[in-house]
Amino acid sequence: MVDWTRGGPDVLVVLDRRAGPLGIQIQDQLRAAIRDRRLGAGERLPSTRRLAELLGVSRGTIVDVYEQLLAEGYVESAVGSGTRVAAMPAGGPAGQAPGVVAASSSRPIEADFEYGIPDLGSVPLTDWSWAVSKATRTLPTAELGDEDPAGSRHLREVVTAYHRRVRSGCAVAEDAVVVSGFRQGLALALATLAQHGIQRIALEDPGPREHDVIARRAGLDAVPVPVDDHGLDVGRLRETGARAVLLTPAHQCPTGVALGPSRRRDLVAWADEVDGVILEDDYDAEFRYDRQPVGSLQGLNPARVIALGSVSKTLAPAIRLGWVLAPPRFVPGIVEEKRLSSRGAPGLDQEALALLMESGRFDRHLRRVREIYRARRDVLAAEAEAAFGPGRLHGLAAGCHALLRLSDGTSERAVVATAATMGVRVKGLAHYRFAPTGAEIEQRPPALVLGFGNVSELQIRRGIRTLAKAVRHQTAP
Ligand SMILES: Cc1ncc(COP(=O)(O)O)c(C=O)c1O
Repeated sequence: MVDWTRGGPDVLVVLDRRAGPLGIQIQDQLRAAIRDRRLGAGERLPSTRRLAELLGVSRGTIVDVYEQLLAEGYVESAVGSGTRVAAMPAGGPAGQAPGVVAASSSRPIEADFEYGIPDLGSVPLTDWSWAVSKATRTLPTAELGDEDPAGSRHLREVVTAYHRRVRSGCAVAEDAVVVSGFRQGLALALATLAQHGIQRIALEDPGPREHDVIARRAGLDAVPVPVDDHGLDVGRLRETGARAVLLTPAHQCPTGVALGPSRRRDLVAWADEVDGVILEDDYDAEFRYDRQPVGSLQGLNPARVIALGSVSKTLAPAIRLGWVLAPPRFVPGIVEEKRLSSRGAPGLDQEALALLMESGRFDRHLRRVREIYRARRDVLAAEAEAAFGPGRLHGLAAGCHALLRLSDGTSERAVVATAATMGVRVKGLAHYRFAPTGAEIEQRPPALVLGFGNVSELQIRRGIRTLAKAVRHQTAP
């Protein structure tokens, strides 16, 4: 038990150093303590330095934890009085209420630049309900029983045809396993790679923070590889000794760069040299605006690439369907992992997705939302240039997020925290760094990751102006 302030609150924070990022563990436990009222409204949390000392973690980790809790409305911070527990409404923190959420206890959200959410107002619910209704009427009764854990033959055929047509892939139905979204596909693929003797996986740094946790749970050692303006640094990958790598080649998450042509060739050569495997996260390749489509790596070297797809960006995360397209030697292992974990993917939903894609409604939806995202991106680019000057926004050629580079000397953390108090939710690039320490974060060029999938053009205009104020506020002498 950590008794963290003299006369202050006494809350149990127990860290398991083998169980994933410590910051996430601390965040979860503090949130639970606030929700359960073990930490009451107005109680003062210890300083970041003090809590870092008590828990034996870096100060940067605690700063990130407090920023996250601030952005979610669990705590408040005021100059001179530190960080205090916010008053909770009866149903929980304001940040969890449906509809308008709050960045601090009372401030309504003006713009939510959180990464990763597509335009929820554009989810094609009428088309989806048509597809579910048709699936319910037409799926043979026999297929309501025990189904193939690899997924419905129909969806595997439709998805692989789509991947060949749109992503220049070359997989066929026998190479495909239907899963509950990318994350499950990754977990099942990694468990299978571990059984094939692969012990270490390299991950993009910066990159999505959960992937190292998923890798460790599958029994693999996860190591970072830096990303630069041409994507993953293949030279540094070679130095890691890993035989597997996970990357986002079409639009790097979160920097937005595409893997350069010579890097693509080098990567494929690396996989052949080390008898390795490339896991291709193809999460938002459908959304590109003014550059040539970048084909899937799977089409380039099908014997070495496992392509992971999902409808979380193209339709909605709630549909929870995705696919793994794997070289034949890995398919039985992935199917067996799927069978053991959940027997198979939901049959009616699989049929509905197959019908949606086959009918042309899926493509029509993509054409429609691509124009919505293009318009948002154009507003974002114009506003960012007006507020921050030219050349600050990167990764705009594709996807639904961009990287805003801040001037050297700007504190990314302070901007994120200040913006939260002004009603703008955003994350700094440090959030995507592989196990960063406070000192490392300070040395890296500051930047913000701006998701623009689920913010209106008006919110973008207001949000960017507010962000510019947040930057001025924190850099003012
Ligand atoms: C980098 C990346 N990969 C994949 C996904 C899709 O994940 P899932 O299908 O588990 O929702 C996302 C969505 O947020 C993502 O950001």
